[in-house]
Amino acid sequence: MQRYVGRVVMVSGAGQGLGRAMALRFAEEGAQLALCDLNSVAVKETEQACGPERALSSTVDVSDGAEVDQWLYQTVANFGRVDVLVNNAGVIRDSRLETMSDNDWDTVLDVSLRGSFHCSRSAFRQMKAQEYGRILSMSSMCWRGNFGQANYVAAKAGIVGMARTIALEGARHGITSNVIAPGLIDTPMLASMDADAREKLASRIPAQQVGDPADIAEAAAFLCSEAARYVTGVVLDVDGGISIGSSLR
Ligand SMILES: NC(=O)c1ccc[n+]([C@@H]2O[C@H](COP(=O)([O-])OP(=O)(O)OC[C@H]3O[C@@H](n4cnc5c(N)ncnc54)[C@H](O)[C@@H]3O)[C@@H](O)[C@H]2O)c1
Repeated sequence: MQRYVGRVVMVSGAGQGLGRAMALRFAEEGAQLALCDLNSVAVKETEQACGPERALSSTVDVSDGAEVDQWLYQTVANFGRVDVLVNNAGVIRDSRLETMSDNDWDTVLDVSLRGSFHCSRSAFRQMKAQEYGRILSMSSMCWRGNFGQANYVAAKAGIVGMARTIALEGARHGITSNVIAPGLIDTPMLASMDADAREKLASRIPAQQVGDPADIAEAAAFLCSEAARYVTGVVLDVDGGISIGSSLR
């Protein structure tokens, strides 16, 4: 399918993992891409993989509002518009509540929640002027609560609330706002998790396998398409069934 010909897609945290997989998928479907990451080398590699003629990579820290505004400005200067924003950048700093440092709390909230706020605010202004837009934010199956992740859960639950509010404010302007809540997906972030916790969680997946980044890219490609114009404020679980509940028998 070529659903994104003539569309401009911004992806944060596009240097690896889900961000890179989504960028490649949008590129395959004809999009022009504005990609950002804190890691300049990695995001340049994604730019090359997408095709440098259709992608522009930038080094941006999404927790910095001025850097994000500049990224949006550059994107519009280069491509003329912004049709899709994917709020993907995120980090983990896991520990139990009683040992969690202020820095662990702030870092996770600053990148995931504040970063999504900065990018959404910038893109929303442009999308409102165009009377068209798709904002997609990466939450997590963990937004409902997860042992040892008070900071991450707070950020990912915050993203759900923010995205649903953006859906209300955007609906009259042709802007949708949706959320994907991935389960365990095979990326560098998953590999960096405590191995014991990862194995325990993986053993509870009803589909009996961790997900592939392409599974998330598939859902993103639908939610950000023109065909999804009447889908807004939704949290789509893409998780092999793990959020349904116990599958023990
Ligand atoms: N992989 C999973 O199992 C999983 C599950 C649920 C949710 N998620 C969410 O999906 C998103 C992508 O996850 P992933 O597994 O690909 O992670 P990842 O760690 O593999 O990639 C994240 C990317 O974000 C970039 N980044 C970090 N801080 C940044 C900042 N301040 N500004 C710009 N870029 C920054 C990193 O450099 C990296 O390239 C995250 O929001 C994550 O919380 C992932």
